[in-house]
Amino acid sequence: MQIYLAPLQGLTDWIFREAYTEHIGKFDKTFSPFIRVQNGDFYRPSQCNDILPTNNTFQTPVPQFLGNKADAFQRFEELCHQHQYTEVNINLGCPFSRVVDKSMGAGLLSQPARIAEMLDGIFSTTKLKISIKCRLGQDETSEFEELIPIFNNYPLEEVIIHPRLGKQMYKGEVYVDEFVRYAPLLKHPVCYNGDITSIAEIEKIRTLSPMVHRFMIGRGILQQPFLLSEIRGQELTHDQRVRMIRDFHLSVIEYCKKKYSGDLHLLRRFVELWAYHSEAFEDGRKIFKNIKKCNTLAKYEGVIFKAISDIK
Ligand SMILES: Cc1cc2nc3c(=O)[nH]c(=O)nc-3n(C[C@H](O)[C@H](O)[C@H](O)COP(=O)(O)O)c2cc1C
Repeated sequence: MQIYLAPLQGLTDWIFREAYTEHIGKFDKTFSPFIRVQNGDFYRPSQCNDILPTNNTFQTPVPQFLGNKADAFQRFEELCHQHQYTEVNINLGCPFSRVVDKSMGAGLLSQPARIAEMLDGIFSTTKLKISIKCRLGQDETSEFEELIPIFNNYPLEEVIIHPRLGKQMYKGEVYVDEFVRYAPLLKHPVCYNGDITSIAEIEKIRTLSPMVHRFMIGRGILQQPFLLSEIRGQELTHDQRVRMIRDFHLSVIEYCKKKYSGDLHLLRRFVELWAYHSEAFEDGRKIFKNIKKCNTLAKYEGVIFKAISDIK
């Protein structure tokens, strides 16, 4: 079984991935949050920094492309070649309206002809291995029925499916029955992604869909950083967990100091992380409340290093 770390913009960037891999565990694959390319332009240099080899010393991520045209992809491919990447992922799942309204991410799922045109253009020249990360549709799960023959037309590395609809964002029902029905119709390896927070949930999917051996976990890892070790059958004492989580946070703080100028930028980022991560602690709610009140890095360090022995 292979376990991947999901791309989460602002959360599982190089800072998280480096600190996690060094101190907690190594995933079978990690992915960069999307790098948005539109009309041939990179939108945010900070997104490109995420895949710089100097920022990815413990594990090479799979860079993720967000766009809707082959020529934009070709610009992205140049960037990837520049840094010796051999595999990339295409985002067909981002549900945010500023992306969907521009027919990117999940906004492309209801336009199969545009997806086919983009993939035709990409595969006519690419030297990269390519996978897709998608949802079952933007408005209806039946949209996926038109996507299956299109995906099957290309030599994809794998298809990662988050079985929600774009219109649901990240909440509500996960369409497991539809996933189970559609996954075997794809000729590529399929990876399941969505709401995995325990081994029992992986087992549930494996029972329903025995051909699936790849699982991608996002928020579940922020909430339970030792879920990866549990899945791998590694037993950790409480003291080991405390040490690992302390070292992880020391590295996150050190890298953040390099990336951000001024405590407030750092603190904003830490609040986003702890919105999920506080669940890993016995008294998580109180810790999160205290973190939100911090207005200096020194206060933040005081709160979290006191809290760390509280890890579940
Ligand atoms: C804050 C946030 C940012 C995300 N950013 C990305 C992204 O850049 N690229 C992507 O493919 N998915 C992104 N996702 C979706 C996740 O990769 C994943 O598909 C989703 O969270 C479901 O998996 P999970 O329940 O294990 O978290 C994001 C999700 C969240 C909550």
